[in-house]
Amino acid sequence: MTVGNGGERGAMAQSGGHVKTERGSYVRTVVTLDGPAASGKSSVARRVAGRLGVPFVSSGLLYRAATWLVEDLRGDADDEGAVLGILAERHVRLVPSLTGDRILVEGRDVTGELHTDAVDGAVSAVACHPGVRDWVAERLREIPGSFVIDGRDMGTAVFPDARFKFFLTAPAEVRARRRVGERSADLKAVAEAIARRDRLDAAQSAPAHDAVHVETGDLTLEQVVDRVMQALSGVGAV
Ligand code: C5P
Repeated sequence: MTVGNGGERGAMAQSGGHVKTERGSYVRTVVTLDGPAASGKSSVARRVAGRLGVPFVSSGLLYRAATWLVEDLRGDADDEGAVLGILAERHVRLVPSLTGDRILVEGRDVTGELHTDAVDGAVSAVACHPGVRDWVAERLREIPGSFVIDGRDMGTAVFPDARFKFFLTAPAEVRARRRVGERSADLKAVAEAIARRDRLDAAQSAPAHDAVHVETGDLTLEQVVDRVMQALSGVGAV
């Protein structure tokens, strides 16, 4: 567990999602939840954010929005220059909120169109471009205030100084079964799609050295949320 740069362990009191340090000043709280596809991180992050009373941000939505745009404009996902050209031309906005973040493209809310098999299939190709990763990181670092954020590299590349970091894991077959429960689909096909995404996302998916690992395979969603909340309360964050 990391307790930020200042080492204000212990005497922390929650205040609107902000944390009071021993010196009496309030600092924003960023809680990162990283993990592989279908590890349950977004469901957990949403509930933890709800209990803390702060917005939940899904970093994957920005990668999905970039992929959605490339598909909409029939661009080439493997061509970094072409993808960056599209991102420079179109206005993509991530709007954090207490009920989950939304993505607006040219002012239109496209959030409901981002979790399709087509986007799932192409998103890793878009996400592996360094310029796209910079584009996403820039947007995430602009978000003001306290929030809970999920992704692959939130605790490493994007918010290395986050005060609280978690890494969720679950066996591949458990993740596939969870995903089949979310979208009516064939277990074998889903397992293959997840294995493919694990492989393609591996470069940006290493856990932060100071993250708390939570193996979620045998736990219910509420049990995972309780574990995270217990860990946060153990360092005085709640
Ligand atoms: O988390 P989610 O499944 O919505 O992420 C979709 C895709 O976005 C991932 O498969 C990965 O390719 C990319 N991603 C990433 N880094 C993040 C979050 C998502 O590369 N921090």
